[in-house]
Amino acid sequence: MEAKTPTPQDISANLATRVVGQDEAVSEISIALAKKLGQLPVGNVLMIGASGTGKTTLMRAVEAYVEEATPSDALRPIVVRVHAKVLGEEAEQGRPGEALLLRLLERARDVLGATTDPDTLLEHARRGLVFVDEIDKIRGQLGEEVHTAGIRAQEALLTVMENEAIPFTLPAWAGGETRQVDVSGLLFICAGAFEGLYDAVLDRITVGKDKGSLTPVSVMEDGNLVQRMEFTLRDWLRHEDLFDYGMGPQFLARFDAVVLLNDLDIEVLERVLKEAPDSGLQQSIAYFESRGFRLELSEAAIRRIAVVASRTPRLGARALREVFRRVVRDYEFEPERFADEAHTIRIDEPEVNAALS
Ligand SMILES: Nc1ncnc2c1ncn2[C@@H]1O[C@H](COP(=O)(O)OP(=O)(O)OP(=O)(O)O)[C@@H](O)[C@H]1O
Ligand SMILES: [Mg+2]
Repeated sequence: MEAKTPTPQDISANLATRVVGQDEAVSEISIALAKKLGQLPVGNVLMIGASGTGKTTLMRAVEAYVEEATPSDALRPIVVRVHAKVLGEEAEQGRPGEALLLRLLERARDVLGATTDPDTLLEHARRGLVFVDEIDKIRGQLGEEVHTAGIRAQEALLTVMENEAIPFTLPAWAGGETRQVDVSGLLFICAGAFEGLYDAVLDRITVGKDKGSLTPVSVMEDGNLVQRMEFTLRDWLRHEDLFDYGMGPQFLARFDAVVLLNDLDIEVLERVLKEAPDSGLQQSIAYFESRGFRLELSEAAIRRIAVVASRTPRLGARALREVFRRVVRDYEFEPERFADEAHTIRIDEPEVNAALS
């Protein structure tokens, strides 16, 4: 019997063990991956979200999922993750897409084994999954200036995203001949923080060409009816805002889905600290364990750290790491000074406040 391909729910349940919240992005990516695993056609996805909200984390979670959980090698897509800028630089050195295909081919060899014949490897490579991180770094303009490298990188990416076949010279280990390779089966998932986009969209609808679009809503606040402007990028982002940002219309047309990641609120920051497998807390727990100690952080302490982290703008969950380091540094330096007879170190809210003051 054929192995059953995972459903989007199966996949998202797995991704949720590594990514906190961001349900919209996780669902969209899970659906795309389920289609990919089922060898069905699937459109490219663009993720937009502020710095430190989990874009790269989500990409890594998919890589880990594909590696650990896909039922068989035959189903497993070949996955690579690259920085958009690097793609641009590579395009200047050779034919667009060639370096990317080579990377996929090498990855296919790693995954399927060096004894697999090159045709099979190429077959997997040309239907791989490509994560392009920091896609906003290849915008076509920077302020008023034209950003030539960005435009070229977009063009190069467009070549692989829209062309059915590209010329590809196989490396010597795979025979060395040049072939036309059909790359229409590649799936691209791109992500970027698009710094400044939020302000640009807000400007457009408040003082710019769509001035007056954002109207105040009445909300109750402490028993009083007050007028408030409520703005979310999700409600107001249009394709034209991304054009204005410097992403070419043809380039954007290659994406079927655009998903926005949420800014992390205090509750989500708490969960990231507690649950994310690579969080500063988990690393610290592992460190203490290796030294024979147990770390206990109270709920109030966790909340306090999340609150302080949430006040640092533009860092998202990265602020969490920095705040947590400040809290835990002395404890890690000299655990025996703080531990009780049972070798347990307890950090509560007052300890957090003391460390941060
Ligand atoms: N939603 C999340 N779930 C779990 N961990 C998260 C989440 N968001 C951020 N983190 C943690 O915060 C750190 C930064 O996250 P990440 O690298 O994914 O940010 P990013 O969105 O790619 O930001 P940038 O645009 O600056 O690249 C990571 O260590 C990650 O563990
Ligand atoms: Mg990132």
